[in-house]
Amino acid sequence: MKTAEKKISRRDFIDWVIKGGLLATFSGMLFPALAYLWPVMGHGPGSDMQEVAKVDEIPVGGAKKVILAGSALLLVRTAQEFLAFSAICTHLGCVVDWNSEKKEILCPCHAGVFDLQGRVVSGPPPRPLPSYAIRVTNGKVFLKL
Ligand code: FES
Repeated sequence: MKTAEKKISRRDFIDWVIKGGLLATFSGMLFPALAYLWPVMGHGPGSDMQEVAKVDEIPVGGAKKVILAGSALLLVRTAQEFLAFSAICTHLGCVVDWNSEKKEILCPCHAGVFDLQGRVVSGPPPRPLPSYAIRVTNGKVFLKL
């Protein structure tokens, strides 16, 4: 039994190599161009913001701790907005808590107290808590470190 062999001429082979090379080159140029334009075309949060929670996860007056890129963060939801702070106390690095009754951020280690702007209200912390930009889009909370 003979199999049908199809001979490829040298010219056809070179045509295929050239076309394949051109296709690979243009594909390699197209992907970076589309990746560059993608954030411009999007209507969501900026490309440098990352989702950290869903709006429904945090009740008004409540808070949630999250870890983003190795940083511990405290998200607080007031009646008007979401706020984000470092969850690491500026005194000796304990993890702070949210006190929903007093509407303050408390450090359990040495009774440091911060207000809703992250400013030190009382106790030994030498500096305010760092705060971060937040954006709420489509029921999701996005944050920029
Ligand atoms: S570590 Fe927070 S008050 Fe000391």
